Amino acid sequence: MNFHCFSMQVLHTIINLQNELSKDKGSDKTIGFVPTMGALHQGHLELVRRSVVENDVTVVSIFVNPTQFNDKTDLLKYPRNLQVDCDLLRETGCTYVFAPDADEIYPEPDTRRFDFGALANVMEGRFRPGHFNGVAQVVSRLFDIVKPDKAYFGEKDFQQLAIIRAMVKQLQLNIQIIACPIVREADGLAMSSRNIRLSDTQRKEAVFISKTLFDSREKQKDYTVPALKNQVIAQINAMPDLQVEYFEIVDGYTLQSIDNWNDTNYPVACIAVFAGEVRLIDKISY
Ligand code: PAF
Repeated sequence: MNFHCFSMQVLHTIINLQNELSKDKGSDKTIGFVPTMGALHQGHLELVRRSVVENDVTVVSIFVNPTQFNDKTDLLKYPRNLQVDCDLLRETGCTYVFAPDADEIYPEPDTRRFDFGALANVMEGRFRPGHFNGVAQVVSRLFDIVKPDKAYFGEKDFQQLAIIRAMVKQLQLNIQIIACPIVREADGLAMSSRNIRLSDTQRKEAVFISKTLFDSREKQKDYTVPALKNQVIAQINAMPDLQVEYFEIVDGYTLQSIDNWNDTNYPVACIAVFAGEVRLIDKISY
């Protein structure tokens, strides 16, 4: 057992969190922040561990944000277990867990409308209308509460990262956004809070998502962009329980689709796949 096991505090209100943080800020401590929706897995814990290494104080928020769910069933079914999450966090050296309820974050409905232009209209933005507006609402609200020096996000949500960076620029926030690599299960499936909702068959098939993406990296030089895209989609859709929602090869900065490999020096492939009712995403760079 390490020292941190005894020092983590779980706080539910802004006032209590800010009281604690003001003591830390008074003594010039740096604050790292990891926003999450709970149902923590090793991917989240990696973000927290990195924050613990890089900052004096680490805040992890656990809040299932209603404004970013365009599908109400997904919101209802989103796994929630604060106790288990706190037990996992205690081992990381996290200082504060902030677990507010919805009224604390949204005492009044948040009517702000962000404009991220073309960044938000493709991929997730196209298939989950309003999703990124909700993400920007909650993350800006949490940034305002926590006032971190650094905030940590996983690269699986590649488009979300681009949106957060754009938001930080638009709102002129002095927060460094740190991107952390995807953490995968031993067989390659990208870790996700939604993986526990997969049936045994769906879990077995889900491995084909990452497998097909990795194979596509090997084939890249022999195929045109459209041919490679068609192959990936056909291969994944050949699995009885998998259905590709989108597969795009984009410029990693603008997130706009490319037609030719030499349209960008940073090609990134992003995919969303339904395994039954469970929606999974993944990404690789070529
Ligand atoms: O990536 C997530 O888990 C969420 O979108 C985030 C950033 C915690 C905002 O609710």
